[in-house]
Amino acid sequence: MSVEYVEKVYNRYSSVYDLIFGKIFHSGREKAPELLQLQPGMQLLDVGIGTGLSLPELPRFCSITGIDLSQKMLNEAKKRLKKLARDNVSLHKMDATRMTFPDDAFDRVLAAYFISTVPDPVAVVREMKRVCKPKGYLLFLNHFQSENPILGSVEKMISPLCYRIGFRTDLNLKDLLQRVGLKIDRLERIDFAGHWKAVRCINEK
Ligand SMILES: C[S@@+](CC[C@H](N)C(=O)[O-])C[C@H]1O[C@@H](n2cnc3c(N)ncnc32)[C@H](O)[C@@H]1O
Repeated sequence: MSVEYVEKVYNRYSSVYDLIFGKIFHSGREKAPELLQLQPGMQLLDVGIGTGLSLPELPRFCSITGIDLSQKMLNEAKKRLKKLARDNVSLHKMDATRMTFPDDAFDRVLAAYFISTVPDPVAVVREMKRVCKPKGYLLFLNHFQSENPILGSVEKMISPLCYRIGFRTDLNLKDLLQRVGLKIDRLERIDFAGHWKAVRCINEK
């Protein structure tokens, strides 16, 4: 699946995204500030910010940069920003595979329900590491392939189908982290069954 296809899919979702994915993913977004340990003056990058559902949970005392491929998702995020009256957030249409930010630009990088939507997660996490300062935090909120062999194979089987509607179900956490040279610093379940996780890694460059 190409970056262009993903862009089209999320452009189509934009008007109904909050209705479908607002409540069900809320617990992860709520957990993010505690795991990010943001301090005044810090720079946070929210990759694949979508309609900006994370924004109400994030503090006003740091600088937030949000990027997304889909202009229509970003338009929704802009409306939210206006309602929240926030002036510490900037939004940009950008492909996370090729970010235009310099190296070491951010203290924290958040990827909320994002990394399983990209065609090349390894390339994207490498970019996230590049723009994150040494010892900065990378936080992933996501579904990862189950370690249960039966469930894991079902997820692998249905993944191509799910990807047509915007996300894959067979992203293997251990494999991904090994390929990009990251280790887990903290891992928490964000749903009752433990299929969705918050994974924090420290950027050891
Ligand atoms: C499932 S949504 C998550 C949105 C938001 N983070 C949330 O918590 O609801 C995934 C978002 O990632 C964006 N996206 C997918 N691939 C991208 C890429 N290569 N670069 C930037 N954004 C991308 C999509 O347009 C979509 O808005």
